[in-house]
Amino acid sequence: MHYSLANGGVNVVTIKDVAQMAEVSTATVSHVINDTRFVSDELRERVLEAMEALSYRPNALAQGLRVGETHTIGLVVPDNANPFFAEISRVVEDLGFENGYSVILCNTGDDLVRERAYIDVLVAKQVDGIIFIAAGDHHEHLTELTSHRVPLVLADRDVGQSAADLVLVNNEQGGYEATRHLLDLGHRRIGCVTGPSEATPSADRVSGYGRALREAGVCRDEDLIEPGDFRYQGGERAAARLLGLQQPPSAMFVCNDLMAIGALRAIRTAGLRVPDDISVVGYDDIPLASAMSPALTTVAQPVEDLATICTELLLSRIEEGVNGAPKRVVLDTKLIVRDSCAPAPVREGS
Ligand code: RIB
Repeated sequence: MHYSLANGGVNVVTIKDVAQMAEVSTATVSHVINDTRFVSDELRERVLEAMEALSYRPNALAQGLRVGETHTIGLVVPDNANPFFAEISRVVEDLGFENGYSVILCNTGDDLVRERAYIDVLVAKQVDGIIFIAAGDHHEHLTELTSHRVPLVLADRDVGQSAADLVLVNNEQGGYEATRHLLDLGHRRIGCVTGPSEATPSADRVSGYGRALREAGVCRDEDLIEPGDFRYQGGERAAARLLGLQQPPSAMFVCNDLMAIGALRAIRTAGLRVPDDISVVGYDDIPLASAMSPALTTVAQPVEDLATICTELLLSRIEEGVNGAPKRVVLDTKLIVRDSCAPAPVREGS
């Protein structure tokens, strides 16, 4: 399906242009296009003439999505095998079902090509609206959705798309609190295993890590910051690299729980014990975190609230129209202290 993006320098004639030329409301144009309500012959004629004069061609996106007639919503996530996204999917699906909507779940695998393909699928299916967690850090192909006034709510990752509602978590504060906790236990060589560089939540957590170190007067050592990928194996590999340093850290802040669980395995493989030899803090508080041995200290994300607010925002946009300035909601995290951290061992440079 070919799109001509408004920001690609190609003029996109919108329903608003037709309404202005015909001197009617966009709702009247929509009712003429979709035959969803009586319109007088005079107004109908004016709308059809304007559409002809402007060569306006309503597409499935404009027709299906705006009138909210398919009672389906799209949910796009980077990795539904990750319990964090699985929990979001469950809450959205439950709330959607309670309100008479079914959900089409699209798993992009953090792949931008798949992400684009799934947007085409959702448009073709004429879903009534979309909750979208981006795979990367840009929003070009979301512009098509917003330029056609598609009800769209972005969650978790801020890709700079200012025309859509946005529900985020304060990840900078979360990273700060995780690192502050380790500093308060006396750790000074604190490793950090990051998520994918293009995922804004990871970048914000690392910023919080840096702020905590600065406040404590601890020099940020780039050798202690290892790139990860939000996956178990990536966490294990990154932690193993940190443990292989000449001066290994006495603690690690790992930017999500799946990688932190991988880090626990790397620490065991190195013959070390948590928290006696090294402390670990994760992020997300997935159910597995409390089931680990030792139970993982982590930063809890308000997943239920995040998913609920996204769904409620989207349904109100679908049913009340997409008017009104986009909303931006930022939710707080909470440090959950369990058993994977202990005071820094008394040794030089720890
Ligand atoms: O665990 C997956 C991570 O990706 C979470 O921390 C969430 O914030 C998402 O961005």
